[in-house]
Amino acid sequence: MKDVVKQVVTPDEAEKQARYEAVETRLQGLIAGETDTLARMAGVVAVLHGEMPHFFWTGFYRVVGAELVIGPYQGTPGCSRIGWGRGVCGAAWKAEAAQVVADVHAFPGHIACDVASESEIVVPVKDGAGRVIAVLDVDSTLPAAFDEVDAAALESIVSMFVSPGGGMC
Ligand code: SME
Repeated sequence: MKDVVKQVVTPDEAEKQARYEAVETRLQGLIAGETDTLARMAGVVAVLHGEMPHFFWTGFYRVVGAELVIGPYQGTPGCSRIGWGRGVCGAAWKAEAAQVVADVHAFPGHIACDVASESEIVVPVKDGAGRVIAVLDVDSTLPAAFDEVDAAALESIVSMFVSPGGGMC
């Protein structure tokens, strides 16, 4: 059997854009008609993690009470619970806005689930009322792997969780 080895490299902006477009197209087919949020999250993680060469850890943390609790993910084992305002994930939840961290070692309170992580992006997932219901967290072993192209594309992808009618899918 042929081994599939992921080449770890940050694509240039044009390639990133093209890969995100391919991801969105694939996801539209994959999660169309799927109403279960966890199933949708699993599909998003699988497609993104497979398609994006600079993604080392890709996953969701769901808002459960006063904490973020880990959801579907791919990569090495992640920490299971994160408090509001804690780490990059908690900061995205608190700010209700994407966090792009070029150097995780310089981020105060960064939670190191895997020492191989060098840079990170976290995008909040909001329901139709604008409430944060989860965050999408992506880590890279490469420094400064994420930028505004990743932020815009991931925001667009997580917006697929909200139905056109405005409710949670
Ligand atoms: N680094 C994150 C914790 C989650 S792991 O990266 C999977 C943070 O600081 O919130």
